[in-house]
Amino acid sequence: AALSQDELKTLVGQAALQYVKPGEIVGVGTGSTVNKFIDALATIKGQIEGAVSSSVASTERLQALGIKVFDANEVESLSVYIDGADEIDGNGHMVKGGGAALTREKIVAALAQRFVCIADESKLVEALGTFPLPVEVIPMAAKQIARRFEVKGAQATLRLRDGQPLVTDNGQHILDVRGLSITDPLAFECEVNQWPGVVTVGVFAHQKAAVCLLGTAQGVRTIS
Ligand code: A5P
Repeated sequence: AALSQDELKTLVGQAALQYVKPGEIVGVGTGSTVNKFIDALATIKGQIEGAVSSSVASTERLQALGIKVFDANEVESLSVYIDGADEIDGNGHMVKGGGAALTREKIVAALAQRFVCIADESKLVEALGTFPLPVEVIPMAAKQIARRFEVKGAQATLRLRDGQPLVTDNGQHILDVRGLSITDPLAFECEVNQWPGVVTVGVFAHQKAAVCLLGTAQGVRTIS
């Protein structure tokens, strides 16, 4: 029988263990695929020093499984950061932030020498932009940032949770931007980063994936 999406996530979560070096601290992302990786990591927890986490949710899961979580300020460099993506292209550029954790994800990714992306094959795209692009913003700038996207022919909507603006782990808001076609991810990330009030844009081009472990019907495909 064909593997379910959940089983593909388990497969790549386990495959990511090969990038974890004994005795080291590993960078850990956020999301349903990373949750599978955290579960796999727990089986070798005696061999690692611990983790730096990219969200409150991942920290809680790591700690519940007995994995020590270090503050990002305690670490100068990590060998590897392992995280999922909402979209990834053939060059390792990604859209992230579907789980609202994009800012801390980019911070921890920037500490790492290598970003290993784990994803089921539905995440692989020709060009970024179909998945609504998450942008974390300072609340008082949300409307002016939305207008800047309108000028680009896109529509930005404030992400809600239970009818109220979603508040991130950093106390900020998220815009989800539809109708973009991101042809030059590096230039796009640079441009949006400069708009006042933007905390983090969900395009990961500067912190792109060095390796992608893609879960497919034929097994794990490694793209590097
Ligand atoms: C979290 O903010 C995101 O960047 C996740 O990495 C992304 O949404 C992937 O999540 P799933 O593994 O649940 O698809």
